[in-house]
Amino acid sequence: MPTTVLVTGGAGFIGSHTCVELLTHGYDVVVVDDHSNSSPHALERVAKTAGRPVTAAYETDLRDRRALNAVFDAHRVDAVIHFAARKAVGESVQIPVAYYDTNVGGTTALLAAMEQHDVRRLVFSSSCSVYGDATKVPLTEADPVAPTNPYATTKLLCERITGDVCRRLPGLSVLALRYFNPVGAHPSGHLGEDPRGVPNNVMPYLAQVAVGRRDRLRVFGDDYPTPDGTGVRDYIHVMDVAEGHRVALEHLDDEHGMRVFNLGTGTGTSVLELLAAFSAACGREIPHEITGRRPGDVPALVADPGAVARAWGWTTRRDLTDMCRDAWRFQELNPSGYPG
Ligand code: UFG
Repeated sequence: MPTTVLVTGGAGFIGSHTCVELLTHGYDVVVVDDHSNSSPHALERVAKTAGRPVTAAYETDLRDRRALNAVFDAHRVDAVIHFAARKAVGESVQIPVAYYDTNVGGTTALLAAMEQHDVRRLVFSSSCSVYGDATKVPLTEADPVAPTNPYATTKLLCERITGDVCRRLPGLSVLALRYFNPVGAHPSGHLGEDPRGVPNNVMPYLAQVAVGRRDRLRVFGDDYPTPDGTGVRDYIHVMDVAEGHRVALEHLDDEHGMRVFNLGTGTGTSVLELLAAFSAACGREIPHEITGRRPGDVPALVADPGAVARAWGWTTRRDLTDMCRDAWRFQELNPSGYPG
């Protein structure tokens, strides 16, 4: 089993929670993060929450090959978890070249460094957005992929590139995890989602409205073909996502090559249902208004989580109430996010 894990994007939302999960389960963790969308304070919170710090943290862009190779030279890395990427769907439409450059270029640089240093285990952060405008839910890994924006295309390209590298390097084991909508926070309230600027995603936006930083949530469309007309998503607690990565590490050696798994709960929640659950968690009404649809949004994305359950005997443990309670606790304790 791997003992030293290199986590790219380890100071980000999912990365930082995964670092805690790994540290509390005895792994040593090395972080590479350029802090373009994360705070270095997150790693202080990781140490406080886990009771021990990461072994080392490098402020490095993955595309800086010299710096990345120096990280691999300095540590005997057993496995890599690759989160580092740009992830705002709308922005990806505006600046597609930057998305391809960072997400695809970062991944190819990482794969080259791994090959050079004989590192043969990788967990790759993919996305349910690769399914695009799903014609049916729940979605299995066998359903067709059809990205509808550059962000989703970068994730699919990275899956394909990694698959090609697996065919070339028979000893390589890769697990690509297609997350649905990660939300929530560590139950301690020390670690959570702290996006820079105006949040793109519904949960951090809701939390900032609840704490008084924003006036109201705009619900993007109530005329979708869903039970209440608002968009339906499969929200998954970030600690379940973190746990999923730890369990994935334990299964990298099951077989060589590339395997793809959904990471979701199998339960769909509409924006209005999420709003109600969050209001209950924070004990106040959340001001909101219905506005027009957001370009690029799809009506419903829900996972069939069966494949991962069959392969690993693992399922998510936390529900929507847990997600809202923990997201609210972090926001209440850190009304302006991380310091600095
Ligand atoms: N929504 C609102 N108001 C908002 C923000 C979102 O009503 O202010 C609605 C959306 O229309 C959608 C739902 O809330 O129906 C969820 O939207 P998010 O922006 O939170 O998340 P997405 O489903 O758009 O997911 C995208 C990508 C994922 C990625 C995720 C987090 O598709 O791959 O953002 O970056 F993981």
